[in-house]
Amino acid sequence: MTINKDVERVLLSSEEIAAGVKEAAKWLDSRFAGTTPIAVSVLKGSVVFFCDLLRAMNTPVQMDFMTVSSYGASTVSSGVPKIVMDLSQSPHGRDVLLVEDIVDSGRSLEKMRDLILGRGAKSFTAVTLLDKPSRRKVDIKADYSCFEIENEFIIGYGLDYNQCYRNLPYIGVLKRSVYEKQDENK
Ligand code: IMP
Ligand code: MG
Repeated sequence: MTINKDVERVLLSSEEIAAGVKEAAKWLDSRFAGTTPIAVSVLKGSVVFFCDLLRAMNTPVQMDFMTVSSYGASTVSSGVPKIVMDLSQSPHGRDVLLVEDIVDSGRSLEKMRDLILGRGAKSFTAVTLLDKPSRRKVDIKADYSCFEIENEFIIGYGLDYNQCYRNLPYIGVLKRSVYEKQDENK
């Protein structure tokens, strides 16, 4: 496999990710037995995980999408998540499975949980591919997270820097030299 020149090192190979996804699907199948949840992909970062996860599950699901933005062209969150695109249906009375790429400060997850439960969802479950607990600013945790990671800026398998690298099949640590110059000017 060729590694992108901007990647410092591979943190999770596609094989390791696939194994984590399979475990998460098993956990979710038992949690959602007998129900048909609305699975919500938080765009754009979770879309690759979402597609693999849902296909590894046996539970019948409906799909929906939401776009939340908090970064811009930076590795540091602006701190104010904004709903850029909302769900296409009401979650009222429904079981909702929110699929996130990574929980960092926790602000996006908190915002979506409050929004979805505030609209009368029957239940709210959050699954995340990655968790960076050392960066948490609000007291929140996904119900299931596949991998816990250190405080490093990562890309690939849906995750971006400045909208690039989302289609890498592995998760890698981004070289500091790629973002240091740009972040300094903010
Ligand atoms: P939070 O609201 O701070 O928890 O931010 C969550 C969002 O920030 C995630 O859904 C990602 O889109 C983005 N994010 C956080 N850490 C990283 C990272 O290391 N690489 C790429 N995106 C990240
Ligand atoms: Mg995201």
